[in-house]
Amino acid sequence: MNKFGMFIHWGIYAATELQEQAIARYNIPREEYEAIAKTYDPYKYDPEEWVLLAKKCGMKYICFTTKHHDGFCMWDTKYTDYNIMNTPYGKDVLKMLADACHKHGMLLSLYYSNPDWHHKYGYNPLSTHQWRVVQRDEVNMDAYIEYVKNQVTELLTNYGPIYTMFWDIPPQIQDKSINELVRSLQPGIFINDRGFDTGDFSTPEREYEAPGGARFTRMTEACNSVDMQSWGYRKDATFYSIRHLTTSIDKMMAMGGSYLLNIGPRADGTFDPVHVARLETVGNWYQRMEGCLEDHEADDYEYNVIGGEWIATKKNGKSYFHFHNGTCGTAVVFTKYPNAPKSVRLMNSGRPLRFDIELLPEFVDGNTGFGKDNLLHIKDIDVDAFASEPIVIEIEW
Ligand code: GLC
Repeated sequence: MNKFGMFIHWGIYAATELQEQAIARYNIPREEYEAIAKTYDPYKYDPEEWVLLAKKCGMKYICFTTKHHDGFCMWDTKYTDYNIMNTPYGKDVLKMLADACHKHGMLLSLYYSNPDWHHKYGYNPLSTHQWRVVQRDEVNMDAYIEYVKNQVTELLTNYGPIYTMFWDIPPQIQDKSINELVRSLQPGIFINDRGFDTGDFSTPEREYEAPGGARFTRMTEACNSVDMQSWGYRKDATFYSIRHLTTSIDKMMAMGGSYLLNIGPRADGTFDPVHVARLETVGNWYQRMEGCLEDHEADDYEYNVIGGEWIATKKNGKSYFHFHNGTCGTAVVFTKYPNAPKSVRLMNSGRPLRFDIELLPEFVDGNTGFGKDNLLHIKDIDVDAFASEPIVIEIEW
């Protein structure tokens, strides 16, 4: 799978300026919430801008919320009237996004919520994220699954090649026929683990303190939002620090995962410039990593490194040391390494780093044996200039 993608949570909930689950979390009366559709007009929507922002950030795919828990559909579906065609805007925003993606070589993934707070049979007693008001409805999961299959057939037929299928909220119903349908319509697709079977990849969410180092044993796509409280647009947003995001992304990727970073467009279809700036800062960092976070392998050599906690990966004969909390100082010392490096570089700046192989008196220790061999001393790491990023050192052995 590609490593870096843009998650986009967009629906009529953007008009609440609260959260994608606003109707439930803020107890908005159903009629009031659903009436948003009658005035919803994202007249400034320009999906090319979205795609170009993703590209600028080094992202290779966009995952778009076709239907969130509120049940409102952002495409021209014939299976419910509760969709974007029945708003003053009246255009298929998914089709417009798909066209923009295809035009710019951006892959398109689709998010689809299993919980549905609008559909008559959307209430699933086995699953979570069921809004209490929905319990007015009868339980008829067979009828609801039929609806899901019909909608997924539209989504996977009418919008060109689809890269991944992002089901949300496991329905706790095992039914292999649904992902079989998905694969029959889009043979190359990757499917996540929140659907009716375990699919192809796992989806740790908002995770950060995952034990660094151990590589994922299964295809994994972590996800997080620039906003700590919301995936959909929230006016009074609380943001993650850039350091938190770059570290989280670097860690997940160094462990072999992919990463979806989310932004929630406003009701008028535009991104808030404050969100854009944060995304661009992360994107700038990501591009300076020059692809070292993609298609790498674990570097299993038993290094001994003093100067910070690290994970090692390798790619094209080079090793990459990811110091997720930065390095303690402007140097790190290898007390065990395969041979003298040919070159050393700080990925953050792209600059070569000075290195010496020498016996360093301060590391000579009779107990550990340090000092008996020559130590590799990598110097002049501008750690303070990159305080909002992990430090990544490239070594060509
Ligand atoms: C959670 C939230 C949902 C969001 C999703 C993104 O499942 O309930 O609102 O869309 O995470 O992965």
